[in-house]
Amino acid sequence: MVGIAILGYGVVGSGVYEVIRKNSDGITRRAGTKIDIKHILDIREFNSHPEKELFTKNYDDILTDTDVSVVVEVMGGVNPAYEFTKRALMAKKSVVTSNKELVAKHGCELLKLASENRVHYLFEASVGGGIPIIRPLKLCLAANEISEITGILNGTTNYILTQMINKDETMENALKKAQDKGYAEKNPSADIDGIDAVRKIAILTSLAFGKYVDSTKIPVTGIRNVTLTDVEYAKKSGCVIKLCGHCRALENGKLDVYVSPCFVPDESPLASVDGVFNAILVKGNAVGDALFYGRGAGKLPTASAVVSDVIEIAKSGENTDSPVWEDVGGGILENSENSV
Ligand code: HSE
Repeated sequence: MVGIAILGYGVVGSGVYEVIRKNSDGITRRAGTKIDIKHILDIREFNSHPEKELFTKNYDDILTDTDVSVVVEVMGGVNPAYEFTKRALMAKKSVVTSNKELVAKHGCELLKLASENRVHYLFEASVGGGIPIIRPLKLCLAANEISEITGILNGTTNYILTQMINKDETMENALKKAQDKGYAEKNPSADIDGIDAVRKIAILTSLAFGKYVDSTKIPVTGIRNVTLTDVEYAKKSGCVIKLCGHCRALENGKLDVYVSPCFVPDESPLASVDGVFNAILVKGNAVGDALFYGRGAGKLPTASAVVSDVIEIAKSGENTDSPVWEDVGGGILENSENSV
């Protein structure tokens, strides 16, 4: 039995609960043990919840419970998720997260702390929602030297652009629909201005090249200024506008990384990626092109990735690996004004 605690009962947290309850038999079989939800931490009241006894407002209930070996941090934002994650890792509990902001900002420290405490810090859900991409980059493509990654990494902006392209919808109306569907960030500027996408390309770049890339040093342009006229112009040019995150290894050993709206030619596999779907095209020197596609946001797709990490931990022993990327300091971005 693996005892878990879920931090945050919002869109993703409730999805994690639902997936574990719905697929309980299969998850037990595939994990080789039962995944037992011991606590759910949230500051709100859930008095009509069928398992209301699981809820607590006190994090110490979780830290001091020796039956909890995995903490599922799905609160989002840096605070208090950062402190909670550190305390869990120091208490020798593994942490699974969907929190791309935290991984992009403090991933180096948290991975090191996990490694020192011989526990895991896993973040499959931090990029691409339900699409497997973190584990493939760590394992399935580990034989390759990666030369390039291009991805549609934000479901909200892709949903908005698709509505603008196919339905002549305004950006405001499309954003409202994305919020209603639970895709958008609490502050949707993180979506619209490309901040969420830049955190995700920073995570993928750090993993693919084994060196930490600071997301705040990556040039980023969001979709705020994209108009229906731009969308029409792209159409006439045989293209479609997509918000793309891109990273590429340069011959001088540095990396070219950016997030920007791009004219994607109709024949590109990324052109037909519509709505909340994300896609990530990885180029490796052995595999060639590998395309990862699926739902990039939303309750159950994101929960699918979170629970896969819990299952991985249930199947593995203590963590004896070194962190998945090195903290090499600045200087690896060619296009950054902050590179040295
Ligand atoms: N707001 C994010 C998106 C959620 O729209 O892609 C998933 O990371």
